[in-house]
Amino acid sequence: MRKLTNLMITGAAGFIGSNFIHYLFNQTDFSGSIINADKLTYAGNLENLADIHSKFGRTRYFFEQVDICNYNATKSLFKKYEIDTVVHFAAESHVDRSIFGPKDFIQTNIIGTFTLLETAREYWKDRKDILFHHVSTDEVFGSLGSTGAFTEETPYDPRSPYSASKASSDHLVRATAHTYGLPVTISNCSNNYGPYQFPEKLIPLMILNMLEEKPLPVYGDGKNVRDWLYVEDHSSAIWLILNKGLDGETYNIGGENEWENIRLVNVLCDKVAEINGRDKDYYKRLITFVKDRPGHDRRYAIDCRKIKKELGWKQRKDFKKGLDLTIRWYMENKRWVERTKSGEYRKWLENNYSEQRWELPDR
Ligand code: NAD
Ligand code: DAU
Repeated sequence: MRKLTNLMITGAAGFIGSNFIHYLFNQTDFSGSIINADKLTYAGNLENLADIHSKFGRTRYFFEQVDICNYNATKSLFKKYEIDTVVHFAAESHVDRSIFGPKDFIQTNIIGTFTLLETAREYWKDRKDILFHHVSTDEVFGSLGSTGAFTEETPYDPRSPYSASKASSDHLVRATAHTYGLPVTISNCSNNYGPYQFPEKLIPLMILNMLEEKPLPVYGDGKNVRDWLYVEDHSSAIWLILNKGLDGETYNIGGENEWENIRLVNVLCDKVAEINGRDKDYYKRLITFVKDRPGHDRRYAIDCRKIKKELGWKQRKDFKKGLDLTIRWYMENKRWVERTKSGEYRKWLENNYSEQRWELPDR
């Protein structure tokens, strides 16, 4: 039986990790503690968790600024917080950045994951009531033609520095389980969208550019296809895996919701216009086809029947509703947007965490 009491969530100041923490505290019966272990790169924003910090800080939520590549630092966290579960989100996550600067991707995604695996197995030894859950991507499977979908058995074929580094980390996780018996699970998920996503990714970038009446850059012919999943549905899938997933298993997670980029951008234009009381085609004049991303994968699609059948997961958020919520979130959270764009969010740590080293509360 897994303990699931003291969860180390790596990269939880980022988009999906911070949504996962909101999900745990607000929508589950989780009663343990969370240790957010994050280096705070440009993508790490503690303002995503300001409400959690005010409600649960020092009692059930702890932040530690740590680089997962640092062996001694990560090891000391296992001891300090008596970690029994790792949910490993921390990564360099943006494909475009991996094309222009792959080194950080190799460092964090490969060396960082390796370091975390080493510290986990050294600290846990032969314990079986623990779990290392690795959060990965559908991009490890490569690119699809116009039909078919990735299953858990699809051979790996990563094609960008980002996906190659994630594929490598998946292999290290499986090798550690196979060789040393570490209890692990892996999930490979499709494109997430929702609140708190850093505005370099397609959906928030398009929304914010529309609001500023800037060009909407669509790569290539705009016919690349992505499968979109609301981030809360990703969180519910991970929570199910932690509770019911079998050791050593991989689960694909997806939206079963494929969209050509250009169609999606058009829908976003329609929705923002509707919310803003503009003419239906008002924002479409901003659509600008630009040079394609080098090596741009054409189509992703996920077959997620396994997690549905074996763990009873399903997507709950209808896409149009999810987009509506997301657009409104970016429109209503002007302060978050301004501080994210100006870089001010990076000062939140020094303003709010003057005494950054906390002790566990008495239990
Ligand atoms: P993100 O870029 O928003 O957040 C990444 C977080 O990791 C940031 O808080 C950053 O500070 C932290 N981090 C980076 N390097 C670190 C290091 N060396 N040590 C400690 N922390 C570090 O990413 P995201 O979109 O939330 O993705 C989270 C995970 O989910 C990643 O592993 C990604 O590969 C995977 N994933 C993302 C998507 C998606 O659509 N965004 C889909 C499938 C899988
Ligand atoms: O599939 C899961 C992956 O989804 C995750 O593993 C990655 O971490 C996440 O970043 C995402 O990768 P993508 O490359 O698919 O996401 P991005 O939002 O960068 O791009 C989505 C699609 O939109 C892609 O086909 C490229 C295109 N695009 C993107 C941007 C930023 C544009 O046409 N214009 C843009 O400005």
